Amino acid sequence: MFEVNDPEFHWFLQEVKKKLGIDLTGYKQHRVHRRVGILMKRHSVESYREYLKMITSDPALRDEFLDKMTINVTEFFRNPEKWRELKERFLPEIIKEKGTRNLKMWSAGCSTGEEPYTMAIILVELRIPETVHVLATDIDPWVLEKARKGVYTKRSLVNLTPDMVSKYFIRHDEDQYEVKPFLKERVIFRRHDLVQDPYDRNLDLIVCRNVLIYFDEPTKKRIYEKFADSLRAGGIIFVGSTERILNANELGLRMVSPFIYRKTAEDR
Ligand SMILES: C[S@@+](CC[C@H](N)C(=O)[O-])C[C@H]1O[C@@H](n2cnc3c(N)ncnc32)[C@H](O)[C@@H]1O
Repeated sequence: MFEVNDPEFHWFLQEVKKKLGIDLTGYKQHRVHRRVGILMKRHSVESYREYLKMITSDPALRDEFLDKMTINVTEFFRNPEKWRELKERFLPEIIKEKGTRNLKMWSAGCSTGEEPYTMAIILVELRIPETVHVLATDIDPWVLEKARKGVYTKRSLVNLTPDMVSKYFIRHDEDQYEVKPFLKERVIFRRHDLVQDPYDRNLDLIVCRNVLIYFDEPTKKRIYEKFADSLRAGGIIFVGSTERILNANELGLRMVSPFIYRKTAEDR
């Protein structure tokens, strides 16, 4: 019934951008289209106009809509072998070059916080001073709220050793674990839209994993260009285990290990 190139669908996306401030036009359109269709069916809505009215007037429906558009699945030390490499090889190289005091690290699309807290654990384990923080951003205010609370179920801790769990978490009950305050203090959460907002500069490490998979190629390309501009020469970008920066060379990035790229040149 609903076609991706249906003008009504495009009108709907433009209105969503104006009224909710989120630009879904750079996301894979068939996916956005399918998900909007599922939600409309769930609420027995027949037209985009009617659905727009609902999500702009009912906060619960708005949250449900934003949540479904920007999938939030994540876990601590997702792909542990890659994090080990980052901790044991690439961060020590950066520290050797630059020291530990002014390191700048960014978890872009941090979801509910497992990824930036993973980075914070690595900071602690590498004895990087407390003045160094991880900047953690996401477009979805709901996940940021959950991330700041820092309460997780046992399932999301599967990649941590029992020692790490007791060092970094307070156990509330059988299934609820809260990140300890000293670790929370290492992460600064902020809302940021990778498509529309400006990026920080002179970064040493950008972790952007399993976020750009939802975007179309031109948007992905633009975001990787902006990441490359944000890194200082020698800085690292770490992507998800199904992702690849196709024009890395053009951007002055060299793949130093699968899913890990290093900026070689200051200018491209
Ligand atoms: C699957 S999660 C990835 C979480 C984590 N990086 C990982 O790999 O486990 C994708 C996250 O990207 C966020 N996201 C989607 N579009 C975004 C945008 N335009 N700007 C910033 N974050 C975005 C979603 O809200 C979601 O939390």
